[in-house]
Amino acid sequence: MPKHRTFLAISRRLFHRLRGGRLEPWRAGFSVALGLFVGVQPLYGLHLPLCLIICLPLRLDVILAYAAANISLPLVAPIIVLTEIQLGSLVLDGKLVAIHLSQLRGGSVVHLAAQLGIGAVLLGAILATLGGLIAAQIAQLAMKARDRKDSRWDPRGFADAILRTRLRYESAPAKDRHYVANKLRFDPIIRVICELKTHLGDVVDVGCGRGQLGLALYELGRIQALTGFDWDERKIATARIAARNDVDYSTEDVQSVPIPEADTILIVDVLHYLTIEVQDNLLERVAASLRPGGTLIVRDVDARRTFGSLLTQFCERLGVHFNMNRGGMLKFSSRQWHSDALRRHGLRVTGTVTMPGLFLDNVLLLAVRPDDPDGVSPTDG
Ligand SMILES: C[S@@+](CC[C@H](N)C(=O)[O-])C[C@H]1O[C@@H](n2cnc3c(N)ncnc32)[C@H](O)[C@@H]1O
Repeated sequence: MPKHRTFLAISRRLFHRLRGGRLEPWRAGFSVALGLFVGVQPLYGLHLPLCLIICLPLRLDVILAYAAANISLPLVAPIIVLTEIQLGSLVLDGKLVAIHLSQLRGGSVVHLAAQLGIGAVLLGAILATLGGLIAAQIAQLAMKARDRKDSRWDPRGFADAILRTRLRYESAPAKDRHYVANKLRFDPIIRVICELKTHLGDVVDVGCGRGQLGLALYELGRIQALTGFDWDERKIATARIAARNDVDYSTEDVQSVPIPEADTILIVDVLHYLTIEVQDNLLERVAASLRPGGTLIVRDVDARRTFGSLLTQFCERLGVHFNMNRGGMLKFSSRQWHSDALRRHGLRVTGTVTMPGLFLDNVLLLAVRPDDPDGVSPTDG
């Protein structure tokens, strides 16, 4: 690759990393809140390092946070400091204070510093709350405008389909009903898949759980036929209630069940329940069951030593510990390992989507079975 292209690619990746991901209300809100909080602390010179240290692991927007931290412009900083001292004085002494230069001597300096410290935290919290809420609102409006511009995206149709999916679970046990409602509301995967132009056709949902993902896609009219299996009988019972007679859900162990031929296969948050050998074997069987041109959609934790990844792994382990998911020892593998395995089994990795979500680190991999199997090289994708 020519040098300027490499430079551009690295700059683009760096910029993306600094932004933390796509513009979402929660990201804008927390980034601005953090920036404002940091910006009013009397730690001049440390605002940028603090924004970087806090934002990067949390996938917040460093650029937005640092812009907000610049609230302490030279002309504004004295007003902020005076306000903080007054706030601190109200908390410590119950009254506002007149500030004299003489206080900068002797023991009063310590008291003044305490007032300033407490006032800075208070003012930071107030501004962060207000600014964060306003930023989230603005980002929400910006997102809506973006959605309107995107002709593939039909928010009304999407919302209706999600509602219809939720209603399917009305007679399911309350625990499952609430779980599904939350998943439909907060898990971005349905929308991410919707935004793919891919024709989903006949879909197999491997480790379908309660089935809400497949049913939402079905309600969205994106699926021709849907089959799902999971080894958890309780979840399959719930999925069957919701499926009515539209979908075929069955209790099966993905380690041994023959995978039906399909245009699209979903393996969402399932691989890490299997040993590495079984993960590889499942990907091989799945790749073989895809029709030419068909797509495999895998989502899993990208196993790496980052805060988000370790936190996600910890949450998954908690899920098993508290019997929310049936499983034993969890085995997390990296995005690289997933991609390599898919290529080894003859698929072309066509895209990865880092799942939006506060703190968590899930990656969606898209892999296509080429029409011409000889067209795949081990370095494809
Ligand atoms: C975190 S849940 C994800 C469920 C679903 N894919 C979704 O997106 O909601 C993982 C699911 O994998 C299922 N699972 C784990 N190991 C399995 C196996 N060997 N055979 C079938 N299902 C399995 C669990 O029962 C659980 O429902």
